Amino acid sequence: MGGGPADNPKTIETLAELRRRYPMVGDLEKRAKWRIPRFAYEFLQGGAGDETGLDRNRTALQAVEVVPRYGMDVSKVDTSVELFGHRYAAPIGISPIGFDGMMWPGATEQFAKAAQAYNIPYLVGTLACAAIEKVVEWAPDVTWFQLYPMAPNNHQYSLEMTDRAHVAGAKVLVATLDVPVRAKRPRDLRNGLTMPFKLTPKTMMAAAMAPFWLDAIRRKGMPTFANMAGFAGAPDRVTTSAFVQKHIGGGFPWEQIARLRDRWPGPMMVKGVMHPADAEKALELGLNGVVVSNHGGRQFDAAPATIDVLPEIARTVGTRGTVLFDSGVVSGVDMVRAIACGAHSSFAGRAFMLGLAALGDHGAAHMAQAFIEEYRITLGQSGLLNTDQVRRAPVRHPGAWTRQDFEPHL
Ligand SMILES: Cc1cc2nc3c(=O)[nH]c(=O)nc-3n(C[C@H](O)[C@H](O)[C@H](O)COP(=O)(O)O)c2cc1C
Repeated sequence: MGGGPADNPKTIETLAELRRRYPMVGDLEKRAKWRIPRFAYEFLQGGAGDETGLDRNRTALQAVEVVPRYGMDVSKVDTSVELFGHRYAAPIGISPIGFDGMMWPGATEQFAKAAQAYNIPYLVGTLACAAIEKVVEWAPDVTWFQLYPMAPNNHQYSLEMTDRAHVAGAKVLVATLDVPVRAKRPRDLRNGLTMPFKLTPKTMMAAAMAPFWLDAIRRKGMPTFANMAGFAGAPDRVTTSAFVQKHIGGGFPWEQIARLRDRWPGPMMVKGVMHPADAEKALELGLNGVVVSNHGGRQFDAAPATIDVLPEIARTVGTRGTVLFDSGVVSGVDMVRAIACGAHSSFAGRAFMLGLAALGDHGAAHMAQAFIEEYRITLGQSGLLNTDQVRRAPVRHPGAWTRQDFEPHL
């Protein structure tokens, strides 16, 4: 660590005060709701369809129980975890959030700086609001890159973006599989949220009621899809949004994943894996692991909760790769639940973004510190001395899918 908020006494004091006043992600939700415009809050919090998938992620995680053991010396628990040769402070990372600057202007920079300061991975997205080259400057040791398919021209743009991320210095490539088509998200439709973003009387009214957010826009400027500027031909909001609308989308076919594997020299994973057979396929193609994720319930509302498919996927991968987990993680207890069910590390999306939306620029650091501290407390409470022990913790998981559940019924 060094040079970040973690070293600044004034910031440490501010963060301690914030942790007292907003101890849980639920507290941040209440504050974020009035601090940012309604269309932005609902874009962040919403899910696909009737949002049953979104709710299922949380309900299923909460159903996982871990039995505590007592009598060990837990004064020196080790929260760290090693992923791809780097020892991180704790098994939590920041998931990619596309168009993050719409929810909190300057979000990408804050995520990157918090990740570097607290030594946790930042999986920055193709559709983040700062370019990968800037992100690596802010977070040289912990930046991973998430790739979306840009299918036209035989994925030439995807290959070029991959090369750019490598030259910039991203450590790990993660290709997102789970957006084969665009999802229907009713909250965005009701709020008139379109791409490119249009100022209508409704969106203008919502923005006018969010003075903190407007002030941040004044300071940081309107958000753009910064990585797309080179491909789109101009860096402005309208041109890059039009490019995203036209070119981003469609799933990655496996042949394309194989091409990316050949191209990317470092560790590579796929994100959005929900079936053990897809994990097997990823390993066959030489990938280094999978991210078990259902996009936080934003894509397919009939999908199972990620925690419920995790154990069988982790068993399939075994010692052949790394298994990461997201969708529904909001606390250190959830981190322990995910790892006890087979993940090497957890990631969170909305929790980090809610930190920024609720608390402004300190919010990402607040969340990083809160996750690490809560994880430490949870290890102590359960008598687990380190992350390896969490993977062998006594756990009861009523909703877990068995191998048979993945077979056809007829
Ligand atoms: C507003 C928003 C935008 C997202 N954009 C992306 C993206 O650009 N790429 C991607 O792979 N996943 C994206 N995701 C999914 C997250 O990376 C992550 O899988 C999900 O948020 C995890 O669930 P959680 O929010 O409950 O932690 C997005 C999620 C949210 C909430």
